[in-house]
Order: sequence, then C-alpha cells, then structure tokens
Amino acid sequence: MSGASPVIRKATPADQPRIHAIRMGVRENVLSDPSRVTDAEIAWYRDQAIFLVAEAGGDIAGFTCANHQTGLIWALFVDPDHEGQGHGRALLDAALAALASAGIVQAHLTTGAGTRAERFYRRHGWRETGRSLDENVVFVKPLG
Ligand SMILES: CC(C)(COP(=O)(O)OP(=O)(O)OC[C@H]1O[C@@H](n2cnc3c(N)ncnc32)[C@H](O)[C@@H]1OP(=O)(O)O)[C@@H](O)C(=O)NCCC(=O)NCCS
Repeated sequence: MSGASPVIRKATPADQPRIHAIRMGVRENVLSDPSRVTDAEIAWYRDQAIFLVAEAGGDIAGFTCANHQTGLIWALFVDPDHEGQGHGRALLDAALAALASAGIVQAHLTTGAGTRAERFYRRHGWRETGRSLDENVVFVKPLG
C-alpha cells in the first residue's frame, strides 16, 4: 500500500467539514441535490448507527455510514486523491463487521451503473438484484 496504513475509527462532529468536503469532491455518484442529506440524518448515523472514517497520515481519506437496523450501506466515499490504497475496502469491511455484530444477515446498497464503485462491489462479492427506480444498481451481500 502507498502511504500509511489506514486507521478506521468512529466519526466525531469535528470530522464533519472534512467529511462534507470528501462527499462533495467525488467524481462519480455525485450528490445531485445536497439538501437531500440533512444534518439530522448525519447526526443519527454518527450518534446511533455506524459512521466510520479512515485516517491516513493525519488526514481523513474516506468515510462510510451504515444502518444497523436495516443493513443499508448508506454511504461509502473515498477522497479521489486517496483512491486505490485500500481505504474503500477497509471501510467497507469494518461497516460489514459492525452490521454483522448488530445481527444483520444481509447488507444492501445502491450505486450508479457503470461506475468504479459498481466494479468495486462486484469484485467484493456483492450480487445485483436489479435496478432501482432511478436506474441505480441494487446490490446485496449475505453476511457471516
Ligand atoms: C468506490 C470507492 C469507495 C473505492 O474506494 P478505494 O479506496 O479506491 O477502494 P480500494 O483502494 O479499497 O480498492 C480499489 C482498488 O484499488 C486497488 N488497491 C486496493 N488496495 C490497494 C493497495 N493496498 N495498494 C495498491 N492498490 C490497491 C485495487 O485495484 C483495488 O481493487 P480490488 O478491490 O479488486 O482489490 C471509491 O472509488 C469512491 O469513493 N468512489 C466515488 C464515490 C462512490 O462512488 N461511492 C460509492 C457510492 S455507493
């Protein structure tokens, strides 16, 4: 791996500006309407669900949010400058482990068709179940 090994830890409120910058800086799965992600949702994931960041060299390289009640991977985003160094995999593995610990037997998510993320999920054993109304790929992955 290039750079320092990532450390996966829980997100804190102080991380939010950097997390927001990463979310707005990705080149694929761009957020078409930022107002659709509310402060209340972000606080809920941080305080009550699963919200993890990957740290490398003192910087936050990426983050993930998962819903321990439903098994949804709500977000997985890595700064384009930090892609291809294992942060996405480390974050996803940690989120899936946390979901499994919460008793979830199958995780699910949606992602844009034809993206790096779609290829990434397929390589990591996610199975497409179809397309959503907005033509995103719907993926599931059994846990355990
Ligand atoms: C999809 C996404 C999360 C992947 O993150 P990433 O950090 O680049 O992922 P990884 O580095 O773990 O893996 C990607 C590839 O990088 C390479 N890679 C992984 N670890 C590596 C390492 N230690 N050294 C060199 N290359 C490595 C591999 O080719 C790997 O492919 P593999 O999974 O078959 O091993 C990221 O590209 C992203 O945020 N995309 C934009 C936003 C998005 O679409 N998010 C998903 C919304 S649902």
